[in-house]
Amino acid sequence: MIDLTSFERDGVALVFGASGGVGAALCHEIEMSGHFAHLCAMSRRSSPSFDLTDQESIRHAVEHAAAQGPLRLVIDATGFLHDDQQGPEKSLRDLDAAKLARSFALNAIGPALIMKHVLPILPAQGKSLFATLSARVGSIGDNHLGGWYGYRASKAALNQLMRTAAIELRRRRPQAICVSLHPGTVQSDLSSPFAKDGLEVQTPQQSAQSLLGVMNALNVSQTGGFFDHHGKPIVW
Ligand SMILES: NC(=O)c1ccc[n+]([C@@H]2O[C@H](COP(=O)([O-])OP(=O)(O)OC[C@H]3O[C@@H](n4cnc5c(N)ncnc54)[C@H](OP(=O)(O)O)[C@@H]3O)[C@@H](O)[C@H]2O)c1
Repeated sequence: MIDLTSFERDGVALVFGASGGVGAALCHEIEMSGHFAHLCAMSRRSSPSFDLTDQESIRHAVEHAAAQGPLRLVIDATGFLHDDQQGPEKSLRDLDAAKLARSFALNAIGPALIMKHVLPILPAQGKSLFATLSARVGSIGDNHLGGWYGYRASKAALNQLMRTAAIELRRRRPQAICVSLHPGTVQSDLSSPFAKDGLEVQTPQQSAQSLLGVMNALNVSQTGGFFDHHGKPIVW
């Protein structure tokens, strides 16, 4: 059983991207824990639904969740790497303005709008946590392989947006925590075209359990940080 006891029991857990590989597993684990009074699992197909490119839908989804009780745990498990219109760039010659803009819209700007609507209404008392799923490849210091320009850069931008928001949050909600988390390499639609032999790949359930363990253990002194699924800090 997942231990979420660092969070008060009165609250709401809210997951954006509940239809994704990691997002669905997070919802399942949260539900099984029975720890929160409500779980709001939001996706493009939930009711209400949200879309990262539609701020009004994000605002509405957050309001809907907040009406159920205090937002104790909010996870942004959305993300974009490829679809039938675009995939990660291997070389400078692959750069395309519209595709780069789309990566930023989905991986950085949408999550920033989630932070805009969630962070100001986190409870003033007791632990609350907002985590956005980033990626180790968004680390500039850890970039030794190159490639994947749009995904890397948009996740680096996400980390900077998270860090900036965490500083503002610290002044207004000193007990709240805001972090970026790397879920590990996880079997999902996002990663499946890039599966390689020799990579340590986790099931979504394993990743979700590790991530929730990290979230339970995080404290306010770690707000604004970027951590992996073992809770180890990742270089920016
Ligand atoms: N899998 C890995 O190995 C890995 C490694 C490092 C980091 N990550 C990060 O971990 C997070 C979760 O990844 P995953 O593997 O679970 O990916 P996934 O299965 O592809 O899930 C992505 C989620 O993002 C949602 N999404 C995409 N565009 C959206 C939009 N416009 N509006 C609303 N929701 C949208 C998807 O919703 P729909 O179902 O509606 O498309 C889905 O719920 C991502 O941030 C990813 O970058 C994953």
